[in-house]
Amino acid sequence: MKMRKSFLLFLILPVCITLLLSRIYYLLTPLLLAFIIDALSSSDISSFRLCFPILLFSSLILALSYPLGSFLLGMFRENLIYSTRMQVVKVFSRGDFSAVSTCGSGNFASVLDTDIPVFFSFLTERLFQLPFDLAMSFFVIFLFFKISPFFAGLLLSFGIIITILSHVSSRRLREKSHGAQVAKGRLRQFLTETSRGPWVVKAMCAERWRKKGFEKLQERETEKSLERHLFSGFVMLWNHSGARVIALAILLAGGIAMLDGKISLGMLFFYLTVGPLVFSPFYYFISLVRDYRISSGAYRRIFSMLNIPTEFSGSGGWVGGRIEFKDIWFSYGDEWVLKGVSFAVEPGEHVALVGRSGAGKSTLVNLLLRFYEPQRGKIRVGGMDVRDIDLGVLRGRIGMVPQDVFIFSGTLRENILMGMDVDEERLEKVIRMAGIDRILEKLPEGLDSVVGEGGYGLSGGERQRVGIARVLLREPEVVIFDEAMSALDSYSEMKIKEFIEDWGKGRTFVVIAHRWSTVRDFPSVLFLHEGRVIKSTHEELMRIKEYREMFKGEEGK
Ligand SMILES: Nc1ncnc2c1ncn2[C@@H]1O[C@H](COP(=O)(O)OP(=O)(O)OP(=O)(O)O)[C@@H](O)[C@H]1O
Ligand SMILES: [Mg+2]
Repeated sequence: MKMRKSFLLFLILPVCITLLLSRIYYLLTPLLLAFIIDALSSSDISSFRLCFPILLFSSLILALSYPLGSFLLGMFRENLIYSTRMQVVKVFSRGDFSAVSTCGSGNFASVLDTDIPVFFSFLTERLFQLPFDLAMSFFVIFLFFKISPFFAGLLLSFGIIITILSHVSSRRLREKSHGAQVAKGRLRQFLTETSRGPWVVKAMCAERWRKKGFEKLQERETEKSLERHLFSGFVMLWNHSGARVIALAILLAGGIAMLDGKISLGMLFFYLTVGPLVFSPFYYFISLVRDYRISSGAYRRIFSMLNIPTEFSGSGGWVGGRIEFKDIWFSYGDEWVLKGVSFAVEPGEHVALVGRSGAGKSTLVNLLLRFYEPQRGKIRVGGMDVRDIDLGVLRGRIGMVPQDVFIFSGTLRENILMGMDVDEERLEKVIRMAGIDRILEKLPEGLDSVVGEGGYGLSGGERQRVGIARVLLREPEVVIFDEAMSALDSYSEMKIKEFIEDWGKGRTFVVIAHRWSTVRDFPSVLFLHEGRVIKSTHEELMRIKEYREMFKGEEGK
């Protein structure tokens, strides 16, 4: 499907030729029919014999050129959509993390599946075909002027009135359709929520509340749909009656012209056939303005997505060693989250990172992995500024199990490997270490069972095990567990810790945890409080009131 740019340029010529041919033959075919009618009414057999084969040929070209033109134009459009989507995905995946997360996943999806097709449809269906269609319409208007300027003027004025009426009704129809769409969306969301959490409704004995809510939304949706049908009727009325009145007017004026001997019966037929084209210039103008508005919005969104700055990456390799945060200041917006954080973690050291919820623990990890940049201060690994290290290398050597492990729809194997190519033996070892063998027991197709959306739902603890397996498989030098075992029961946590203990020798381990039982085992603890970090032992830190308060009631468990 992918095409080269040069081929797309080359495609423009055949597209133009077929569009031109289709318009010429659209006019030529009824003109030939008109000649044939005139030849038959005057019993002119030789003209009939001459025109008929030409008419056959013309009809054939007309029949072929329209679908061929629309196919070639479609091919042109689909390829533009394909390559632009690829470009957006490329920019998005290489984009600066904070810019990408501000832009939002919903926006990303709507640019890909709506804005790009809308913009290129406008470009190909409206702008590209416009000159051909306008030329055809103006030619017909010119012919009408030749019969009677007064009559042509009358038709044009009538065309303007009908087009305006049709446009106003269409606009109202669009508003009504939007209203109906919104009402339908609310109803769907309500039903989805009801079907996802029936147990909450039952447990709270709230069936009547949900039923009433459903009735209200259902009534609104019906009301909005009826309004939409009413306006759709108006649009049809103007479009149909417009075409009929035009036909009657041509019949009247053309009939008089024919009786006066100005035109033949065949030409009257011709005018009747091409008459509706008188509307086209107004219709094109109005729909061009409307579509331009829609597609310019789409273009702006596509362009802003293509303009997402690329993540800045250094080019240096990995030297490893001491991780050092030096006077780091960071804020997401107005308030400082980190206010001059300084600490170091030695190579091979195992530390716990502790702090209240919202203190900035995950933020510290985000800065180390360069998802965000600190406003002040430096982060170094082995004496090297993280900004100088190649991003792929940095994130490859520092493995992180996040707080919320995202599961993609696909098999469990795909979710663990995430594109890695490893032998079964190594995979099995990791599966045992992360405790995934316990998930496999209940999955009928084992590792090849589909999980995530539309597959087996994994519990919070099971998702965490998948997250741990992903990191173990990548054998990073620095390992960060961001509350990666918070959803595991104490026994599973202990088992995983035992397995990892051996594997973790020689690797730097930073474990973000809230539990007393997890923290007390670490030889040193980083305590993040009010935007600063204190590094000490658990016992020493227990002298600090705020630290002690975090474990209230847990001591000794
Ligand atoms: N992307 C973001 N945009 C704006 N503010 C954010 C963002 N991420 C986190 N914050 C804010 O920064 C502060 C620190 O958040 P962070 O996630 O680092 O806390 P945490 O210590 O990991 O908390 P928890 O223990 O609950 O996971 C919080 O006040 C949070 O609301
Ligand atoms: Mg966190």
